[in-house]
Amino acid sequence: MVNCGLCILSDTVKQDIFQPNLVDTFGRKIDYIRLSITDRCDFRCVYCMSENMTFLPRDEVLSLEECARLIKVFVSLGVSKVRITGGEPLVRKNAIQLFEEIGQLQGLRELVLTTNGSQLEHHALALKQAGVRRINISLDSLVAARFRQITRVGELDKVLRGIAAAKQAGFENIKLNALLMRGINDDEALPLAAFAIENGFDISFIEEMPLGAVSHLRQSSYVSNEETLKLLRARYDLISSTETTGGPAQYWRIPNIKTILNSNTVLNSNTKIGFISPNSHNFCEACNRVRISCKGELFLCLGHENKVDLRPLLRAYPHDDKPLKQAIICSLQTKPKGHDFDLKRAAPAVIRFMSHTGG
Ligand code: 5AD
Ligand code: SF4
Repeated sequence: MVNCGLCILSDTVKQDIFQPNLVDTFGRKIDYIRLSITDRCDFRCVYCMSENMTFLPRDEVLSLEECARLIKVFVSLGVSKVRITGGEPLVRKNAIQLFEEIGQLQGLRELVLTTNGSQLEHHALALKQAGVRRINISLDSLVAARFRQITRVGELDKVLRGIAAAKQAGFENIKLNALLMRGINDDEALPLAAFAIENGFDISFIEEMPLGAVSHLRQSSYVSNEETLKLLRARYDLISSTETTGGPAQYWRIPNIKTILNSNTVLNSNTKIGFISPNSHNFCEACNRVRISCKGELFLCLGHENKVDLRPLLRAYPHDDKPLKQAIICSLQTKPKGHDFDLKRAAPAVIRFMSHTGG
């Protein structure tokens, strides 16, 4: 049996290794993977990237075949939800073929995508047909000039066309992700929420995390979700929802909306408003996920550098999945109990950029 070097399991336990259940030392069952298929992106969001990013050389990035194989292996180990992220996943050539391939996998309950929306007008339908059920689209501003300022290069209209195409394609669920920054777009919580409600989308507000070294001062741009929630509650009757995805989001529902866009129409809204608060809430006990970077590094926790490099195993054993499975199972023994982000620290808690690990 190949030893990945990290394993503290006894040989007897190793015999059971191929039972399809990934459980860590804290009893958390891992059934959700997030795979970044590229570190590249056509945007340069100020909170995510520096202005001049150096991207990885092609041979360091997993091929789409390697991505598909990895996902198959995880699904054979009991993973039932896969999120494809980036960078911007849809800038990867032939990305749709990957969705088509994994969309067929038995045992995969949910295939979902995180995107910046820039390519959606071309690909929304194909993604839906490939079996993608839900899409998360980043949208931080509805004002074109600000959208450009935040993304440095992005075009709001193109993204809005992409969002419309996704709505038209009929996904089960579309969620907007918005990150508010003080002095830049902190006055857009209400307009963004109203946009989501009007379109029947969900929306999550994400607190900025100290990932990668960026050009603005995170401590001064930070807007807490507590503040955003207060603002939204002044406008909408929000009902706390018990729904959880095992992730860092807390959700609220809007029962009836009377005040939407100053009309008096009563709408029954299905919109969920989520608050993703990695800085202020500890959600780690319910963590059900691991992340895989576009280089094939398995990160056990977003806030830690612990990782296991799966790419050498993928390449050394092109026709044998056992070493890969064993390394994955062993790696779970090193999944940390929780993360520790601190915006006040001078250096980012984690050096890697979100675009590398996947959001
Ligand atoms: N902190 C919080 N969210 C981030 N994202 C990218 N970088 C960061 C960061 N440093 C988010 C984007 C996008 C999602 C994929 O990841 O807002 O919606
Ligand atoms: Fe690209 Fe998303 Fe990062 Fe913006 S946040 S630069 S869209 S990967």
